Amino acid sequence: MVSKELIEMLNKAISLEIQVSIQYMWQHVRIYGFDHLAIAEELKKIGIEEMKHAESIAERVDYLGGIPTTNPAKITVGDTPQDMITNDMLAEEEGIAFYKEIIEKAMLEKDYVTKELFEEILSDEEDHHNVFRTLLEK
Ligand SMILES: [Fe+2]
Ligand SMILES: [Fe+2]
Repeated sequence: MVSKELIEMLNKAISLEIQVSIQYMWQHVRIYGFDHLAIAEELKKIGIEEMKHAESIAERVDYLGGIPTTNPAKITVGDTPQDMITNDMLAEEEGIAFYKEIIEKAMLEKDYVTKELFEEILSDEEDHHNVFRTLLEK
């Protein structure tokens, strides 16, 4: 149906999604201080969205005949709110660049469902990127 390389790329995407879902949830737990309550809630909300992304991609890998990975990519929580949100903005940038590659690859292989799935996820990642960038500009 699709190439091994595409399935490997989807598994790398699952690793990135599991990474950020844990990273954001643990930042939600560990972020302290004046005016960080709103940021903590936002991190929790985004963390849950990332877990849903991981699930959707895992279902796609299963359908395509692969075995979805359970391994997160490297989790970097950070110590200060500034470090945390900087790590998160970089993680979103990595995801955005990589998901564009997946969309291109899926198009080449005429896997239109994977392409559409990643277009939807990409749009969420741009929203997340925008949240983190706006926080850092404050
Ligand atoms: Fe995601
Ligand atoms: Fe994201």
